Amino acid sequence: MSVLTAQSDARTTQEVDFLPLHGTDYVELYVGNAKQAAHFYKTAFGFQSLAYAGPETGVMDRASYVIRQDRITFVLTTPLRPGNEIADHITKHGDGVKVLALMVDDARDAWTQTTQRGGKSYLEPKVLKDDNGEVVMSGIHTYGDTVHLFIERKNYHGIFMPGFRKWDSLYQPKPTGLKYVDHCVGNVGWNQMNPWVKFYEDVMGFRNILSFDDKDISTEYSALMSKVMSNGNGYVKFPINEPAEGKKKSQVEEYLEFYNGEGVQHVAIATDNIIETVTDLQQRGVEFLKVPASYYADVLDRVGKIDEDLKPLSELGILIDRDDEGYLLQIFSKPLQDRPTLFFEIIQRKGAKSFGKGNFKALFEALEREQALRGNL
Ligand code: FE2
Repeated sequence: MSVLTAQSDARTTQEVDFLPLHGTDYVELYVGNAKQAAHFYKTAFGFQSLAYAGPETGVMDRASYVIRQDRITFVLTTPLRPGNEIADHITKHGDGVKVLALMVDDARDAWTQTTQRGGKSYLEPKVLKDDNGEVVMSGIHTYGDTVHLFIERKNYHGIFMPGFRKWDSLYQPKPTGLKYVDHCVGNVGWNQMNPWVKFYEDVMGFRNILSFDDKDISTEYSALMSKVMSNGNGYVKFPINEPAEGKKKSQVEEYLEFYNGEGVQHVAIATDNIIETVTDLQQRGVEFLKVPASYYADVLDRVGKIDEDLKPLSELGILIDRDDEGYLLQIFSKPLQDRPTLFFEIIQRKGAKSFGKGNFKALFEALEREQALRGNL
């Protein structure tokens, strides 16, 4: 490609991408007990204390703990009183993801662009200031009670954002090699996948990069359909799942029932060494879904040669899949709270840009065993 073509391509991309995103800024969970949740995510996953907001910092209605590992930031927020948005969210959904916050250069423009295209405003552009500068944030609603916040922090040099103070803790467990948020998956209701695909296309300028239908993803009982939405530069990917007809209740239906509506099903977190990361996580008590040993008998026939030894992968239960560009290694945690709702995926990409379609059947069979144990199949 000539330099001239490359430049004109870049310009075209610039024109088309009305919502340039630099990635996930943070993921905020509303939880019943943020102090304890922060301890759990630090201990089990190797996050470090970063910042705190609450009555001591002048925030009277909530407490928020910010934890970080490499480029991943989680905010754990709990209400201090009943009868507000946060308390109502927890009553309805249990612990879960409220905010998928996205990094932008211009939060005012992000709000204008998305609301002009039909996005429903959650937060009009708002400037937060302290001695370290200013953060501009704005936001729109997405599926269920979930929201996207647009965070502009180019003029801010503080620890997290105005209103937060540094959270010093003597307890800083070792990181587990988690690097960044690879993708965040939403579960939506019957016949709602395509409307939400259209929302991400029209309102946020995303593209549908992959689709799976119930023929790809079905077992004897469970079926789902999924479309993967990506922003222009590929830094932000949101697969959207909806249930499909099966003999019995699908995992997406179980989620919708227990979350009491649509919401974030899983956050996928990338590592550069999944064997070391998952070994560490298991030693810290994180539980993962197990696939049958038979999965490993013929997996290399399906995916071809890989760099890793099969033995540690099979001992840990790590799944392997390949696409045109390379392969990927992935594993799914059990739910992170008592309700069978939010879970994590740990993923290592070795060239592959896909999402493990070849693993779905083995994985769903594992999920259904868990679902049957809960009496929900
Ligand atoms: Fe995933």
